[in-house]
Order: sequence, then C-alpha cells, then structure tokens
Amino acid sequence: MDKETISQRFIKKPFKTFLTLLGARMSANCLHWLQMIINYMKLGRWMASSDFQIKKRVRDRAEVFDVVVKQVCDKKVLYLEFGVHRGTSMRYWSSVLKHPEAKLHGFDSFEGLPEDFDVDGPIVESTHDRKGAIPQIDDSRVKFFKGWFEEVLSTYQLPEHDVLVIVLDADLYLSTLCALNHLRPYIKPGTFIYFDELSRLDHEPRAFARFMKESGLRFRLVSIENSLNRAFFECVK
Ligand SMILES: C[S@@+](CC[C@H](N)C(=O)[O-])C[C@H]1O[C@@H](n2cnc3c(N)ncnc32)[C@H](O)[C@@H]1O
Repeated sequence: MDKETISQRFIKKPFKTFLTLLGARMSANCLHWLQMIINYMKLGRWMASSDFQIKKRVRDRAEVFDVVVKQVCDKKVLYLEFGVHRGTSMRYWSSVLKHPEAKLHGFDSFEGLPEDFDVDGPIVESTHDRKGAIPQIDDSRVKFFKGWFEEVLSTYQLPEHDVLVIVLDADLYLSTLCALNHLRPYIKPGTFIYFDELSRLDHEPRAFARFMKESGLRFRLVSIENSLNRAFFECVK
C-alpha cells in the first residue's frame, strides 16, 4: 500500500466522517459563519498571490469610489453600472460626476438575479427582485436598460466618452463575465473597473481572473476596502 492510500484509508477517511458528524450537530448559521471566515482568508490569499499591490485600505465603499471620483469627476465619463437594484450607487455617481456630457447607464433586470447567489446560506438570500421597478433619479444623464445583460448588451452601443468607468455589482460569475466580455473592445489603459463582492472567489474574482487571462489585459489596484471585499482596478495595458 503506498503512502497516499494509507493516509486516505486511516487518516483522511475517519477525519471526513468525524467532520460530517460534527456538521450534523452544528447550526446552519454557525456553518455559514465558518464559511465566511474561510472566504475572507481565501480572498487575502488571492490578493497576495496576484500581482495586486495593496498600499492602503479604506473604510467603506464611498471611500473606494472617491479615489476614482477625484481623478474623473470633471471629465466626460461614461459610467456603466451592472446591477443597479434600488439605484444607491447610481445616485452617488450621479451626484459626483460634474461634466454635463457625462453619461450614466445602468443595466439590470430589475427582477432580481437569474439564479440563487448563496444557495448554502442559512436563509435563502433575497434575489434583489424589484418587480420591474426602475429607480427614479433626477438627472437627465442617467439612463436605465432593463433586461438580462446578455440580451440588452447585444444591441447596446457605447456613446462617445473620454473615460470609461465600469461598476460590476451583479454578484454572480456568469453575469459579471457576460458584462466584461461584451465590453472587452472598449476596455483599454485608463479604464476603471470596480467589483463589489470579492469575498466570493467563485463569483466576481473568478470572472475577473478569467477575463484577464483570455483578454491578456493587465490591471493595477486603485483603491480597496479594509475587508478587501470591494475594490477599483485600472487597466494598465
Ligand atoms: C447586489 S444588486 C446591485 C446593488 C446596487 N449596485 C446598489 O449598490 O444598490 C445585484 C443586481 O444585479 C442584477 N443582476 C444580476 N445578474 C443580472 C443579469 N444577468 N441581468 C440583469 N440583471 C442582473 C440583479 O437584478 C440585482 O438587482
């Protein structure tokens, strides 16, 4: 019997059995917390193993946004947001972008996620269903595109712009990848891309990693939250 077989039979298998017995006695909530702890540790590992240099961490999402806002607020920005929901982040960007010819386009089904995000969660997570209701934002530069990304993006034409800012807050791997792939021809050095849920490596980070590999584009980290969950990147080549 080789070494691996011995450890599998006498160590790994009883240990796995023990874990299932332990799990059966734990609450779903407790397991969810353990999973979350692992997720954040893996995120730290992912950042460390990638080339992203974390020089400074900031407190919250507004501070992550503001590092980019300072650089682009007076320019003719095309701001594209994937995953609008109630329009909280769209409202923020509408208030900070000053150029009269800036454009803010939001993409969402307004009917929630196309599939469950956290199937193992203790509570079945809200799918963000707005029953089709589009947020009201008093800014003529803001426009919403209602529908599934795949369908809407197939006919969407990007208006002329000086700087492209993309905010990805669709939670899911396939939704994020779909947006990135459609925008591939327009993503170039100077384009900013934000992710809102990096702690789930199987979703937004996985889509970003695949996009970088397939496109060959390189990015630098621009700003990041203390928890590393939310971050802005800039395309550098
Ligand atoms: C986390 S919420 C967005 C929150 C918003 N950015 C904010 O800060 O208030 C995620 C949104 O993504 C949308 N979404 C995810 N995948 C989608 C897809 N493939 N097509 C259209 N909408 C999608 C959902 O409808 C949901 O409203």
